[in-house]
Amino acid sequence: MSNSIFLQKDLIEVFAKAKNVFVFTGAGASKESGLPTFREIDGEWKRFDPMTFATMEGFVHDPVLVWNMYRSRQKQIAQAQPNPGHITLACMESFYSDFLLVTQNVDDLHERAGSEKMVKIHGDAWQMRCLECSGIFDVRDQDFPEEFVMETLPKCPNCGGFCRPNIVWFGEYLCAETLCLATHHASICDLMIIVGTSGEVSNGYGFAEFACDNGAKIVEINPTEGLLTEYADFWVAEPAGEALPRIWGEVLSYEF
Ligand code: APR
Repeated sequence: MSNSIFLQKDLIEVFAKAKNVFVFTGAGASKESGLPTFREIDGEWKRFDPMTFATMEGFVHDPVLVWNMYRSRQKQIAQAQPNPGHITLACMESFYSDFLLVTQNVDDLHERAGSEKMVKIHGDAWQMRCLECSGIFDVRDQDFPEEFVMETLPKCPNCGGFCRPNIVWFGEYLCAETLCLATHHASICDLMIIVGTSGEVSNGYGFAEFACDNGAKIVEINPTEGLLTEYADFWVAEPAGEALPRIWGEVLSYEF
């Protein structure tokens, strides 16, 4: 793995000559939009105990507390705007014959930037799921109260059952269909771009191994080293919102 001191032209060539691209993003991709990451010094898990706010046990113990945390996160997301990194990733979709963006993020900034060839593997902050009938509902337009109390917790429009945020919590399984799709694309890609993830959770998904096994070049965009950096052929130690548009601008003017 070369570190961030590498020949820029080699990196641009890797982007320009790729055919099948697999992008894997984490909370760092939304940092420049003003949304917090989880494990950095000012991260969410420093403010909220994940065992209280991101487990089914925590939800059952105090659903009002958990729903109000997710309500405040919805308000944060609503006020955030996609940054140049999100926008660049959306622009990249049509350049390649095969492209999939897999995000761990539950915000909607990739979608609002225009990304369509994407899957969310940790759920969606704008969805709720019924604990009775498992129905999934978009809550973006729900006129939720400023603050939930037990009596006003969201109920299923189908069956009236209790609902929970449609987020994958610790100790829970990912959607098998989504994971299969992501793993397939990781195993056929010739370029994997890892953006803004510590790899603390995703390391178990093996996407980088699958990409490596297929001989893919791996580029990581992250100001700090993480658990996936060891797989990177190129480590761009810069914020994604700056690095992605800069790189992409050079790719678009690349002379084959
Ligand atoms: N550009 C790129 N990367 C950045 C930026 C930036 N501007 N700012 C921070 N980062 C990097 C940090 O260096 C860190 O490596 O983003 C990463 C964020 O790591 P985490 O906080 O661990 O977030 P993430 O990797 O997305 O966590 C994965 O863990 O708790 C669960 O479900 C949660 O989806 C989340 C998962």
